[in-house]
Amino acid sequence: MEFNPLSTHLHSRKLNAHNKTAWDLLYASTPKSVWGHKPVGFLIPHLPAPELLPPGDILDAATGEGRNLAPLLALGRPVTATDASASALAKIPADLAARVTRLQCDLAVIPVPDRTFAFVLLSDVVETLPEPAAVLGELRRLLVPGGLLLVNIPGDDDGISGIDMQPAPDRAWLYRGRYYYKFHSRAEAEALLANAGLELVTVQVIDWEEDAHPEFRSEPHTHRSLVLLARRPPA
Ligand SMILES: C[S@@+](CC[C@H](N)C(=O)[O-])C[C@H]1O[C@@H](n2cnc3c(N)ncnc32)[C@H](O)[C@@H]1O
Repeated sequence: MEFNPLSTHLHSRKLNAHNKTAWDLLYASTPKSVWGHKPVGFLIPHLPAPELLPPGDILDAATGEGRNLAPLLALGRPVTATDASASALAKIPADLAARVTRLQCDLAVIPVPDRTFAFVLLSDVVETLPEPAAVLGELRRLLVPGGLLLVNIPGDDDGISGIDMQPAPDRAWLYRGRYYYKFHSRAEAEALLANAGLELVTVQVIDWEEDAHPEFRSEPHTHRSLVLLARRPPA
């Protein structure tokens, strides 16, 4: 029987696989860049100064087409860019792709040794994950002690919340019936990080504008997210 993503008996692993396929088909559906080439609106003011980072590399976790790679490379450390979508990774502009290590993998199982990264970016991803706790645990494993995670987690007041979305079980949504979304309260967002063994450094509410996204969202729109900087506690 065909998998029905709106079934009340969702198996989150199956849902994750279905969701990853939807993203891969999106990237393959157009030669245009879905997310554009400008870094995500909250990134630049929140990038840590390189001299404040412990030794270690940088990870763009679920990089998409790599719109955030240029500012990450400017930190002057080796950069790894992962995504589940081979089609997304193939669309990273050649000049950037040549300067990073690309890895196709699920965020819950990243084939990299413990304590590799001093800084991890998770941009516009948590709300798309059926199993965010497993992913945050994996990112903690990969951070060096004292290493930083920068992540945005939108709540119900995000400009896209509920738009063209069908309700799914457990307060989640399916955008256009295909892409999983779940919006988290501030308490839920902070608990996700704390339960992964990450301590909060700063939390801010940030608004930013986005252009339309080819084949994904036809109108310019506004986002509001909690932007959290968290740290793996020093050993
Ligand atoms: C909204 S896009 C954000 C992309 C990028 N971080 C950015 O800011 O442009 C979400 C990305 O998460 C990826 N993704 C979703 N679930 C994933 C998973 N379980 N493992 C790895 N990547 C995943 C998708 O392929 C997609 O590229």
